[in-house]
Amino acid sequence: MNYKHAYHAGNFADVVKHILLVQLLNQLGQKNKPFYVLDAYGGRGLYSLSSEEARKTGEAKGGIQALLQADTEKAPAAVKDYMEGIKQARFTYDNKVYPGSPWWVAHHIEKNPEAGVRGEAFEAKATEYDALNYQLHKLPIGIQHRDAFEGITAVIPPKEKRGLIFLDPPYEQEHKDFTRLINLLVSAYNKWPQGTYALWFPIKNMEAVELFYKKLKRTEMRRQLVCELNIYPNDVAVGLNGTGLLVINPPWQFDNHAREILRFLQPALKVADAPDLTPDSATNVRWLVGE
Ligand SMILES: C[S@@+](CC[C@H](N)C(=O)[O-])C[C@H]1O[C@@H](n2cnc3c(N)ncnc32)[C@H](O)[C@@H]1O
Repeated sequence: MNYKHAYHAGNFADVVKHILLVQLLNQLGQKNKPFYVLDAYGGRGLYSLSSEEARKTGEAKGGIQALLQADTEKAPAAVKDYMEGIKQARFTYDNKVYPGSPWWVAHHIEKNPEAGVRGEAFEAKATEYDALNYQLHKLPIGIQHRDAFEGITAVIPPKEKRGLIFLDPPYEQEHKDFTRLINLLVSAYNKWPQGTYALWFPIKNMEAVELFYKKLKRTEMRRQLVCELNIYPNDVAVGLNGTGLLVINPPWQFDNHAREILRFLQPALKVADAPDLTPDSATNVRWLVGE
């Protein structure tokens, strides 16, 4: 496990992923019934954009820094909530912090103390787990040094009978990882078919993504939605052309909200050397299976 999220924290993929996470949490919270959230690949929880790693890649410039420059007055509600969250994290910690997914889960729970939401995060790598535990131990989220491949199926179905399993793996071996993750989702779905599952995936090798979709369609999982935002066309060789989120059993109308969010974000996150991409051509929210 060589992956270190500190190099990528706050990049365009993180921004899109965390805003869609906020949207999912908000929608799950609308029913006023307790629910469970598991962030199965937690990372460190908080990142400094002035760290050596962040400065080396400069990726946050095309993500959170770009969005902070944009006019968000007419943004969808989840984008506004996310911007408020960033402001609060910066006020609480410092002006260079970028909060990771477990922080967003804990933040949702803190904001809705009466809602009975139970949050947990797993992190398998010892150094990242230590950082996560140290940084978020005062927040309302349970933190475990645990492998998602063993842990997810062990903790579901949750006693709340509703909830979200959020998966944000590092994809160190893309082809193999896609297959292993589909198998993991299928095992989890078989144990808890009513759960909502959101899996982040990179869009860089279109062949790998198409194969991933093909294999997903062959599974028994009903209601599979994919949300994609590209910052480079598929045929340009860069580290990451786009960001994807697969959502199994999304809440009602999540597809419409996600479409609106991605179309809003696209102009703010677009890169200067891919000027032809538009909200229409660079974003896509569609059902792979069912609806
Ligand atoms: C992309 S990062 C997570 C970033 C985080 N979700 C966020 O948005 O802030 C992936 C993390 O998963 C951890 N990891 C890798 N394999 C894992 C596994 N099998 N189970 C749990 N965590 C794992 C890595 O150490 C890394 O910190």
